[in-house]
Amino acid sequence: MTSWWRTAVVYQVYVRSFLDGDGDGVGDLAGLTAGLDAVARLGVDAVWLTPVYRSPQVDHGYDVADHRDIDPLFGDLATFDRLVGAAHDRGLRVLMDLVPNHVSDQHPWFVAARAGGPERELFHIRSRPTGWQSMFGGPAWSPLPDGSWYLHLFAPEQPDLNWAHPVVQSDFADTLRFWLARGVDGFRVDVAGGLAKDPAYGEVRRGSLHHPHWDRPEVHDVYRSWRGVLGTAPAVAEAWGPPERTAEFARADELGQAFAFDVLHTPWSAAALQRTVDAQLAAHRAVGALPAWVAGNHDIARVATRLGPERALALHLFLLALPGAFYLYAGDELGLPDAQVPPETWQDPQSLRSGGRLPNRDGARVPLPWTSGPGVGFTTGEPWLPIPATWPQYARDRQESDPTSAWSVLQRALAARPWLWTSEDLTWQDARPGVLVGRRADALVVLNTSSRPWRLPVATEVVARSVPGAEPTIATPSECVWLRDRRVRSPT
Ligand code: NOJ
Repeated sequence: MTSWWRTAVVYQVYVRSFLDGDGDGVGDLAGLTAGLDAVARLGVDAVWLTPVYRSPQVDHGYDVADHRDIDPLFGDLATFDRLVGAAHDRGLRVLMDLVPNHVSDQHPWFVAARAGGPERELFHIRSRPTGWQSMFGGPAWSPLPDGSWYLHLFAPEQPDLNWAHPVVQSDFADTLRFWLARGVDGFRVDVAGGLAKDPAYGEVRRGSLHHPHWDRPEVHDVYRSWRGVLGTAPAVAEAWGPPERTAEFARADELGQAFAFDVLHTPWSAAALQRTVDAQLAAHRAVGALPAWVAGNHDIARVATRLGPERALALHLFLLALPGAFYLYAGDELGLPDAQVPPETWQDPQSLRSGGRLPNRDGARVPLPWTSGPGVGFTTGEPWLPIPATWPQYARDRQESDPTSAWSVLQRALAARPWLWTSEDLTWQDARPGVLVGRRADALVVLNTSSRPWRLPVATEVVARSVPGAEPTIATPSECVWLRDRRVRSPT
């Protein structure tokens, strides 16, 4: 299958924090539309929007009250249509974030279920709770007024849907059709591995291969049923787990793509990265797919803080050079670090509900700096999370005019990247410990994770590199270099 999305670079827009069009301090669809030229200049293929559906925003849109409407905070269906048109005019595709595992407690179905209506069947409601735990800490069951208990794998305001029920299934198919008809090109599927629950509601057993609510075989039936609706449109699974399990979501008759999340937990070591890449490629190839690589997203600390800015940029170039797609988290192209968000301004339900025990995700969600002037150009109002005083140094306008900036490094790499697609193969070449050298036809990708420079092979020329202006014949420590091997004829 040679679909555009197999090798695409997708820019993840955390809509609240991208650009504010109406001065209320929260990014929105008008802001995103105004910022599309900047996205296109970077050279990505598509944008993925975090949820903009009608929502009380308890989990910043991952609590959906109406899957087929836009929240007034972000705009309306007309502003959405304008955004899609403007994106397509610029050659950018649009992916939406689909949230099928749970809804908001304000969704009409749950409001009716709470009142004792037959909609109870659309949720998991029992007379007694199990010991299952919520991802945001504490029990995954909360009481209803009649004394029964409903399941929420996330916040109590996010009741889980019963995917065994045909009404849930058919309603989601309608949601897919609704957005596809509006011109949407694909979806990111939230909590993709969570939809199926053990009908017997068994307890979580340590060491058991069968989990009562994660990655159960029935979940794949759901995605097989979606494929007929999706046609050739992609959907990318947000599923955590071992590569051979998560890759199953990427089967051609299911979603087509799955995130290669274990890169996020791989230490900065050539050997460890090679193992991760090999395992992901093997698992995906076994199902006829390629991985969707990621260096960051809105749920973890920014990569520039996890690894340091130089390594973060090198990791981007390395992942961009691998067979597969790459999802770039907005702000990472500016090398933004995780912001220190004062606890009194925390918004993330994960940290608020766990009393700070679980990581705070606000640091990776702070609004982006556009200009180096006061207010950094994100909003004319009060930003929804405080913007650090150091942000002007990362401003997009400053970086776009500086050929040595993180933005410019990535922009050059993205412009060169189509050349890599003469081959979907990747083989490793011998190098020194701490140095990885991958080959794809006439392309060599060198990642130097060591603290010593590495001499580049002769008869090569540098096509892109993460340390601009570095000595042309070496890969500096913490650098990734793309080389053209002049001894290999490039396939025509
Ligand atoms: C994963 C999303 O990325 C995260 O932000 C959200 O809190 C959970 N799913 C629940 O929807």
